[in-house]
Amino acid sequence: MNGRDAAARQLEEWQKKNEDKIGYASNSAGVAIVNPKTSLTLGEYGLIPLRDWQMVEALSHFHRERIPERIVHAKGAGAFGYFTCTKDLSQYTMSKVFESVGKRTPIASRFSSVAGNLGSADTVRDPRGFSLKFYTEEGIWDLVGNNTPIFFMRDPILFPMFIHSQKRNPVTNVRDWDAFWDWISLNPMSVHQVMFLFSDRGIPRGHRHQHGFGSHTFSLINKDRKLTWCKFIYKTDQGVENFEDPEEADRVAGKEPDFAVKDLYNAIAEKNYPSWTFYIQVMTPEQAKNQPFNPFDITKVWPHKNFPLIKVGKFVLNRNPSNYFAEVEQLAFSPNNLTPGIGDSPDRLLQGRLYSYQDAHRYRLGVNFQQLPVNRPVNPTNNFQRDGTMCYFNQGGAPNYYPNSFGGPQPDPDAATWTPPPQRFEGYEDYYPQIYDENNYSQPRVFWEKVLDDRAKTRLVNNLVGAIKLANKGIQEKTVDMFKNVSDDLGARLKSKLLGSTRVVQL
Ligand code: NDP
Ligand code: HEM
Repeated sequence: MNGRDAAARQLEEWQKKNEDKIGYASNSAGVAIVNPKTSLTLGEYGLIPLRDWQMVEALSHFHRERIPERIVHAKGAGAFGYFTCTKDLSQYTMSKVFESVGKRTPIASRFSSVAGNLGSADTVRDPRGFSLKFYTEEGIWDLVGNNTPIFFMRDPILFPMFIHSQKRNPVTNVRDWDAFWDWISLNPMSVHQVMFLFSDRGIPRGHRHQHGFGSHTFSLINKDRKLTWCKFIYKTDQGVENFEDPEEADRVAGKEPDFAVKDLYNAIAEKNYPSWTFYIQVMTPEQAKNQPFNPFDITKVWPHKNFPLIKVGKFVLNRNPSNYFAEVEQLAFSPNNLTPGIGDSPDRLLQGRLYSYQDAHRYRLGVNFQQLPVNRPVNPTNNFQRDGTMCYFNQGGAPNYYPNSFGGPQPDPDAATWTPPPQRFEGYEDYYPQIYDENNYSQPRVFWEKVLDDRAKTRLVNNLVGAIKLANKGIQEKTVDMFKNVSDDLGARLKSKLLGSTRVVQL
């Protein structure tokens, strides 16, 4: 094979399949192109007239090839497949995805790193996005998750500032480690996620070898409109594998920046289809009132001992995109896409995300992004929205106002019963920043003391030191103080390692 893997052979494969099928070249209006490689000129070395529409169209279209990249999660890979239900969940949810054992739902998935730009390397230390789009008969359900069950913050208003601190400095246009650790150390609610990030799982060995988590607390609603709180977890059947040695990851980043994109593409092309086993954790509303932590706080996990994983399905990715731009770059996930029987929760961060994504898509892809084939639901859509850029399914002559006397779409009389039961919220409208200080250290302490073995602890400390030492002295001090609150042992190890490094904090 001479190292010519499926990704390298893509054009040859296309040729084999299409040799007899391709017609003559034409422009986008279907008019024959006379000469794709020569401009029209007045004489052999003369001027190009504006009427050379072939050249004008080629350049004009080329200028517009790039759309804005995603503001976060720009670099990624996508694939398609199906979800199979292995446990009837009708006791919890009326969702058709979980209505019977063996029920299959087509899915799209996208994996991504967060902070880097579209061309950045795959083997960097960063959380990984792990999104799933379920094309159900009741509409699109998007589960826009990560490879971690937790997150850096509890309030959506912090997200843009957090991301600013992780991306390029506006003056130098390079990553700024002062900003990175400054934000983290001033927001200790991030410490749990930061410890996951600097542990081995911060650099997965490709997208196939990591778990995924819906991360937030969601709700399941059954046909009696009974609500159960829930978490979604998908565990890799390929086994967790990471770049435990960050120097190896750096080498791969240099030699093969698209390592994870290729790994996924080649596995699927070679019919070595990756799969994940899908679990839920459930918590009743009564249990939620009696936890030692806030079950709607995304910086916390639900301990497995008290809320065991329930196996409910499996998904397989068995189709590569037929075109990356059309099917992956234009793929748009929205946490507010929730189908009957699956709802949101008072998780403050989720509330912000319910707004954020569709607004981002309207900017990046245009107001009719949901009409693009990869984003369109498989069931018909009937509503009163019309027009806008790139409108394709404009609903013909159906009434575009409601109510109307012409048989336009009516709400399904059952729709109200699909929504969560009425919920009571009490309290004064105000700002409540005190939630930022809630119980930030207890679960990170368990992670340090109980989950990591000695060697994993050493690697975590080394990884942290490697990055903390790049910040200024004052920020190093604040950062070490934060980790000291997790554990004296962790604080002491960081301090002693940092004292041995070049740009050191004198503690
Ligand atoms: P358990 O003791 O039952 O299990 C520990 C969990 O940690 C497992 O899910 C394991 O994943 C995961 N894990 C192991 N190494 C890492 C790592 N480097 N980064 C992230 N996760 C890792 O968990 P508990 O429920 O009792 O929670 C104890 C602590 O474990 C929590 O405070 C939290 O820090 C961490 N954790 C908990 C999770 C949860 O949902 N409860 C999920 C992930 C982590 P695997 O099964 O693949 O080995
Ligand atoms: C992408 C906002 C938290 C997972 C994005 C995008 C925005 C955004 C604007 C780009 C969307 C696009 O252009 O397509 C936010 C905000 C958050 C938040 C405001 C907090 C308030 C989270 C959390 C998770 C997450 C907690 C995971 C649990 C993702 C993923 C993508 C993404 C996976 C990429 C989706 C794709 O593959 O296209 N986010 N995000 N985000 N976000 Fe978030």
